Parts: sequence; C-alpha cells; structure tokens
Amino acid sequence: PLAETGTLVAAAAAERRAVAAFNIITLEHAEAVVAGAETAGSPVILQISENAVKYRYGRVLPLARAAVEAARAAAVPVALHLDHVTSGDLLRQAADAGFSSVMYDASHLPYAENLAATRAAADWAHANGLWIEAELGEVGGKDGAAPLDAHAPGARTDPDEARAFVEAAGVDALAVAIGSSHAMTTRTAALDHELLARLVDTLDVPLVLHGSSGVPDEELSAAVAGGMAKINIGTALNLAMTAAIREFLAANAEAVDSRKYLSVGRRAMAETATELIALLRGRSAR
Ligand code: G3H
Ligand code: ZN
Repeated sequence: PLAETGTLVAAAAAERRAVAAFNIITLEHAEAVVAGAETAGSPVILQISENAVKYRYGRVLPLARAAVEAARAAAVPVALHLDHVTSGDLLRQAADAGFSSVMYDASHLPYAENLAATRAAADWAHANGLWIEAELGEVGGKDGAAPLDAHAPGARTDPDEARAFVEAAGVDALAVAIGSSHAMTTRTAALDHELLARLVDTLDVPLVLHGSSGVPDEELSAAVAGGMAKINIGTALNLAMTAAIREFLAANAEAVDSRKYLSVGRRAMAETATELIALLRGRSAR
C-alpha cells in the first residue's frame, strides 16, 4: 500500500535501522524496487529527483502517477518522495502528484541563503501536509559534477551549524555530508563515523545519507548502526540494470523486443534492491 515517508523514517529511526530510498527513472525502476522490497518483506521509498523529472521532458506526473499505482498495488508499504528539488514550481506540484515528502536542496547556496530558501520551502511543505528534508554541507557529485575522490576530505557538515539550521528552517530531516559522494561507480567511499556520532548527538531530526551507491556494505551497516535513518541509492540500480542489459544484448545480437532486455535489467535492479534493503534493516536477505 501507499505509505508516508515521515512514518517510515520515524519507525526506522526509533529502531536504529534505516529505510532505503531508491531513485527511479523509468517504470522498470519503480517496478523493480517494489518487487525487491516485496522479496525482502520490508517497506521502501521510491524517489524521483528533479533531474529525473527533467529527463521526463520536465513533467513529473507521468512517472509519479505510475509510481503511486505501483505503491498502491505493493504487498509492503511504499512511500513516494520528490528528491533534490531546487525549483519552487516543481515543489508546488508535489502534493498533487502523490508525494508525501520532498527534499528541498539549496545546499549549493551560502549558509544564510540556504537557510532562507529552505525555511520558505518548509513553511510551504508543512502547510501542504508534506514532510521535508533539506541539506547542509554539500554532498558532492551532483548533476554530472565529477565525484569527489573518496579519500579526499571533501565537504563535511558542522554539527553546531546543523543544529541551528534545523531549528531555524524547521525541517523534518537533514541530509549531511560525512564522506559520501553522488554517482560513484565504485564502492570506495569512507565515511566519517566520528562526525556521524556527533551529528546524531547534536541533532534531533533523522539524518539522511546521500550518494550511498559508493559506500561499501560494511560502511553502510556501520552508518545505520550509528543512526542514519534514510539511505538514498540511485547509481547502484543503474549499474545493475546496465550491466545486465549489456550482457544480455552481447549474447543475443538478434534480440528486438524491448521486453526481452528490459525484463533482464528490471530483475537485476530488483535483486540489488532486495540486498540493500535487507542490509539496511540489519537482517540478511536470505
Ligand atoms: O538523492 C539521491 C542519492 O543521493 C543517490 O546517490 O546515485 O550516488 O547512489 P547515488
Ligand atoms: Zn542525493
């Protein structure tokens, strides 16, 4: 059934586990994540990023409506989240499109401007019944930018600044920079667990890890044990889908029916989703 992000994240945070939030681009992504969550027997979040909306000719409704229907038909709770929104116009379409939550991303702006823009977005979101996540201390690698060297210090979120930001902006969750980076195709990121511990001690909202595809299993498990409550995963699905389709087409040069290779890609994404969901809830997939 269709669930609410705030409910799923709060339940996870209360039990020191995390809910996986997967970025979907096509209907196959949505179907794969739902199937993967059903196999794992756990709730999941489907998220659509502003970049994915741009890919869909700038329209949010076609994929969002499909994701809502996939969630309604699911055997496990599935919530819908609008990810990395910078456009006020897109933000204002969220509730009507079936999202229960948004991530408003003004993290590229200087602190005072990030705070002012996020405060306005939070006021609007709450007036419209939406749970809202924001970001402070920019996680690198967005929008085609080169991923940070996993071993470089990179951006970090300052705990005291983060507390002041969350209080002043009034957001429900915070994405923090602790060493991950978006769009990594190798799982080589090292997380700053000491910083995570200080952030968890200092803040009283759930924390969100972005760029989780580049984080190894053990590091993800440690981050969840350390208090990360929502884990955003995108690239890992695309890696699984693309590798599976590439292998299938190489072995089946005569293949024409798109269902033949999309189903192979969808199955690979579902398996990836099942494994990550099981890892993040702290129990094994099997
Ligand atoms: O908000 C989306 C995530 O941060 C996904 O990052 O594609 O590096 O896993 P990723
Ligand atoms: Zn992200």
